Amino acid sequence: MKDRISEAGIIEDRELAEYYSRMAKRYMGIPCKRVLSRIRARRIEKGKAIDVGTGPGIFPIFLSKAHPGIQFTGIDLSPVMVEMARGNAVEAGVGDKIDFRVGSAYSLPCGDQSLDLLLCINTLHHLDRPVDFFNEAARSLKEGGSFVIVDFHRDTSAAFIGIFNLFWKFFFGRHPGAKRGFLESVYSSYTVEECRAFLGESKLKNWTLYTRTIEMWIESSG
Ligand SMILES: C[S@@+](CC[C@H](N)C(=O)[O-])C[C@H]1O[C@@H](n2cnc3c(N)ncnc32)[C@H](O)[C@@H]1O
Repeated sequence: MKDRISEAGIIEDRELAEYYSRMAKRYMGIPCKRVLSRIRARRIEKGKAIDVGTGPGIFPIFLSKAHPGIQFTGIDLSPVMVEMARGNAVEAGVGDKIDFRVGSAYSLPCGDQSLDLLLCINTLHHLDRPVDFFNEAARSLKEGGSFVIVDFHRDTSAAFIGIFNLFWKFFFGRHPGAKRGFLESVYSSYTVEECRAFLGESKLKNWTLYTRTIEMWIESSG
């Protein structure tokens, strides 16, 4: 297995961000439905939610349309991505419903124990300080609040990496800046055991961790 590489940088190139936003709008329907099903399983229909590393905002836009009673904030370190997300929300008719803003996973823009739901999709591998992020999630969530964190895991099998890299190249990798995007993301992600150790070290409690092919899901249990 390869050693982890850091992917802490953000997309600042507008053209690449626009490309990613366009492709995400086209192809992220199924992943959005999978996250929605986890929210429905928890019967969350109202309250405050945050999407950390929201990128072009595809997940909170989809979820806000499905559950208008949930008040979403989407944060991203990249101002260009936040601009994309705001534009996408307006286009989807939820521009006045979601608060997209520049922000860091290590310092969420919310009070202690104020959130009913925290999402973080495909972003954990960008975070070089996962324990600090998990602690920030623990600080922000209400007692019994829910979280769904989805990312790649570096100990996924070589066969899965090969297959999903082909999918990536076909669907997302046509821009020269995005060609190696999948491999870079997998190789900067954490292994299941690394992640378990970070969670164990953090203040985030009641988590359950499982894998689905190339993905690692960390969810609040119960
Ligand atoms: C691969 S994208 C995922 C976007 C979105 N969640 C999705 O799945 O479509 C990861 C996003 O995380 C953002 N990001 C990276 N480091 C971050 C940090 N420390 N705090 C907040 N966002 C960060 C990047 O700018 C990027 O938009």
